[in-house]
Amino acid sequence: MPPSPPFFPFLLLLLLSAAASYALPAFREAPAFRNGPHCPADATVHIAMTLDSTYLRGSTAAVFSILQHSSCPENITFHFITAAPDLHLGRTVSTTFPSLEFHLHAFRPSVVLPMISSSIRPALDDPLNYARIYLADLLPESLPRVLYFDSDLVVLDDVGPLFNTPLGSHAVAAPLYCHANFSAYFTRAFWSNPRYTSTFRGRPSEPCYFNTGVMVIDLRKWREGNYREKLEGWMKVRRRVRIYELGSLPPFLLVFGGDVEGVEHRWNQHGLGGDNMEGRCRDLHPGAVSLLHWSGKGKPWLRLDSKRPCPLDLLWSPYDLLKRGSVFDDR
Ligand SMILES: *[C@@H]1O[C@H](CO)[C@@H](O)[C@H](O)[C@H]1NC(C)=O
Ligand SMILES: *[C@@H]1O[C@H](CO)[C@@H](O)[C@H](O)[C@H]1NC(C)=O
Repeated sequence: MPPSPPFFPFLLLLLLSAAASYALPAFREAPAFRNGPHCPADATVHIAMTLDSTYLRGSTAAVFSILQHSSCPENITFHFITAAPDLHLGRTVSTTFPSLEFHLHAFRPSVVLPMISSSIRPALDDPLNYARIYLADLLPESLPRVLYFDSDLVVLDDVGPLFNTPLGSHAVAAPLYCHANFSAYFTRAFWSNPRYTSTFRGRPSEPCYFNTGVMVIDLRKWREGNYREKLEGWMKVRRRVRIYELGSLPPFLLVFGGDVEGVEHRWNQHGLGGDNMEGRCRDLHPGAVSLLHWSGKGKPWLRLDSKRPCPLDLLWSPYDLLKRGSVFDDR
């Protein structure tokens, strides 16, 4: 007897995820991390990251680095956003981090695909790159706040204090870069139209650039402020008028610019991947370092594999859990 129709999607899903697992690299098991002496009994740190096969090596390194430097690693819960339910990604996480508390949240790319305009770098147009816009929809309503991290970073400090950053009236906290040329993130078509530029009127302060790879988000304020709809609104405008060139960053600058709680710069030493075109080696910004972020085209695992690493890529290597001798080792 042929399988009844409802089985077909299920079979297809099985086949697809079997094909995906075939391509997944293997990772070493990370040691179990234990709480230090002064961990609060009633406070969990919630961290959201995306998880896909392309960035899996980066994600496992990021998780490893977070646990290793946390004073209370047993009190961290991870929320991994995946495109479609992917059992194999989950299995990779649980075998790499057997005692990790984590949840998988499925994000349907079709939700955002019609709103994405192509940017200067194809990797920026991946729907999963936009998942951060949907965190308040994907995560449980009971969660008051979340720390969002990109997958191309390592954390060298205790994330507890960052998670507990006082947000004041703001929905988002991130390091602010007020010396960066904010105007350059938008085109003349944007700046010449008062209907667009009036969006910044009445904001608590002058809009400054911030990087969306490290954000503390108050999920309640986010929902109350309808920020997902506001971000989508700008993406829809961009489908009609070329008001900016980059991917998911400019809508964030438009919606939150001038309304972000500042965080110390040490929490996002970004740009280590170089620019979006060539991915040349970059230096650290002056000052302390609590987080290294390879935003830009170059990724440390790719440059290390190609035997042409940048000097700072060697700071990523200690967190690389890729199993030596796995098929991916000699690429
Ligand atoms: C934090 O971890 C300890 C175990 O070391 C546990 O007893 C406590 O309940 C945890 N608290 C939370 C809020 O997860
Ligand atoms: C900032 O960028 C805009 C647009 O690219 C440019 O016209 C302007 O001269 C820049 N300002 C500074 C101070 O560099």
